[in-house]
Amino acid sequence: MPRVVAWSCVVLFFCAGGVAAADPVAATRGKAALEGTAFIRAFWPSFGYAEAWRAWGVSEKPAGYDAAFRERYGLHPAPYPNDGLPMGLRKADYLFTKGIGIDCMVCHGGSILGKSIVGLGNTSLDIHSLFEELYAASRTPTRVPFAFCQARGTSEAGAFSVYLLGFREPDLTLTHKFRDLGLKDDACEDVPAWWLLKKKKTMYYVGATDARSVRSMMQFMMHPLTTRGDFERAEPAFRDVLQYLLSMEPPKYPFPVDAKKATAGKVVFGEHCAKCHGTYGERWTYPNKIVPLAEIGTDPKRYENIGPAFGAAYAESWFAKEKAGGWFLPGQPLKLTAGYQAPPLDGVWATAPYFHNGSVPTLDGVLNSRARPKVFTRSFGTGADDYDRERVGWKVREVSPPPATMSDIDRRRVYDTTRPGRGNAGHTYGDDLAPDERAAVIEYLKTL
Ligand code: HEC
Ligand code: HEC
Repeated sequence: MPRVVAWSCVVLFFCAGGVAAADPVAATRGKAALEGTAFIRAFWPSFGYAEAWRAWGVSEKPAGYDAAFRERYGLHPAPYPNDGLPMGLRKADYLFTKGIGIDCMVCHGGSILGKSIVGLGNTSLDIHSLFEELYAASRTPTRVPFAFCQARGTSEAGAFSVYLLGFREPDLTLTHKFRDLGLKDDACEDVPAWWLLKKKKTMYYVGATDARSVRSMMQFMMHPLTTRGDFERAEPAFRDVLQYLLSMEPPKYPFPVDAKKATAGKVVFGEHCAKCHGTYGERWTYPNKIVPLAEIGTDPKRYENIGPAFGAAYAESWFAKEKAGGWFLPGQPLKLTAGYQAPPLDGVWATAPYFHNGSVPTLDGVLNSRARPKVFTRSFGTGADDYDRERVGWKVREVSPPPATMSDIDRRRVYDTTRPGRGNAGHTYGDDLAPDERAAVIEYLKTL
């Protein structure tokens, strides 16, 4: 074992969190695999990209087409070679030629202060419009069978798995007898940052999957044309991808921080927050705490939507049959957890909006439930002008609930917290802080 790995294992063991330190050689391979491999076949022919504008209600192809395309769907420039496509789209096999598919970064490649970052959640994305308009441009109009996105910047990634597993036998061969495993499409999931995984014993918001599970991440490969053999051949690469995710570090807050205020905030954080979110710095601790739904009080849909029918089918499937655990915590088959996991807060300045459903646009709102906007929109740009340095998160504008006549793509630009899955209640732990204490905690959070 290289010395650097051995040493970081000691540190991690000492800190009593996380699964294991990343193997740097495998992590390098994993990065190359993630940025250079088409793990699934294309959904659209190549001309789908060039022709998408025909669905935009404009009379001619916009100038600066690549930028207009990214803006339309909420995609960002790829910070690695990607055949001229935005991050998240990828050249892949299509029938007997090449076409365009998606990859992990369509959701897990975000942007902050105008910089594309692999591993940051993409909070600009409207994946529903992307799918439907690219199908239309490809002259194969296809309705996505559920709402893939209810509010821009969130997606129904869980529903995607629930739907597609319904077409698979336990050994992942395709079946024509579709089983409804409890498909629901109103969880409005925000995408967690990948750099948090190394502190976690379990993955996903409810903490029901062992964080060492490689196959769990492969659910995304359930494209209708993916065969059992494809899954098996890709597993070694996914082992490396997991090592890459475990090696990631959060971006640093780039603006000045008031050190005195942050130090005061650290004390308040220690009293009010550390028991759930852990402590930070070289000798960090992280309790891996799942907070029961009734206690945390945030929106219940994500918790409820992925239920026993999917759990049972998953537990029988190839995904759950890997050595190091699988869908459920080792030794606890079919047992769902009690609520949501209190996430590590490393790099939290960059991961707005907050909570598992992205219902609160700033840290100030997280720490003061009375200050949370109810129905709001934002630019969905990620530049310095879009970023709220005072409240820490995205600048938003309160608006009226969207009328029924609004086009779907515009309606999804409005986040309406009165709608199912989008509730912004709960997590009231900052409500009783004095304003200067709250400001100090926010200053401290910038340093994590
Ligand atoms: C359609 C969007 C989407 C795509 C594509 C996608 N993910 Fe995710 N991913 C999510 C969302 C949303 C979550 C949170 C799920 C939850 O807990 O409910 C998530 C969670 C995860 C987690 C758990 C993180 C944690 O800290 O708990 C990992 C690891 C992960 N994804 C890896 C991948 C990999 C690898 C790929 C590509 C093979 C991928 N994802 C493709 C949206 C996506
Ligand atoms: C009883 C445990 C508990 C306490 C105490 C607590 N939190 Fe949380 N916190 C959670 C849970 C659970 C979530 C996830 C809720 C969800 O996503 O629905 C969360 C979410 C957050 C988030 C959003 C993270 C993200 O990326 O979306 C922030 C920021 C946060 N907490 C900060 C704090 C601060 C600061 C304090 C102290 C004032 C605090 N929390 C106290 C349990 C706790």
